[in-house]
Amino acid sequence: MTRTDIINSFIIKYGYKSYLEIGVENPNNNFNKVIDVPSKHGVDPQWLQLPSFGKKHNCTSDSFFKKWGKGTVDIIFIDVLHTSALMAHGASTLVNNNNNKRQ
Ligand SMILES: C[S@@+](CC[C@H](N)C(=O)[O-])C[C@H]1O[C@@H](n2cnc3c(N)ncnc32)[C@H](O)[C@@H]1O
Repeated sequence: MTRTDIINSFIIKYGYKSYLEIGVENPNNNFNKVIDVPSKHGVDPQWLQLPSFGKKHNCTSDSFFKKWGKGTVDIIFIDVLHTSALMAHGASTLVNNNNNKRQ
């Protein structure tokens, strides 16, 4: 089972309508294989190719979060630098956004 299989299984099981991938690199490796939900966003300052579907954000996660504001998303795949500080920052920003929306 691949990362893509796991993401797609969540999208199908819970009927998710929005997907965000932080750190895409070559979209053919994962992003393009993720089900084309209505709101599909990828963030990377160094894309190797255009995505086949969805919105390409050619920037770092920090720039994206400023632009995204209090936006929410159903499922997020964070796959950037595997340092705990960056992962924690990205995760907490998005979890806060989602929690605030549900209040
Ligand atoms: C491991 S690759 C992504 C692989 C992809 N998710 C996949 O499943 O095939 C990591 C990517 O993170 C990007 N990256 C590094 N720092 C980033 C940041 N601060 N914000 C967004 N993307 C970043 C790099 O440019 C690189 O393309």
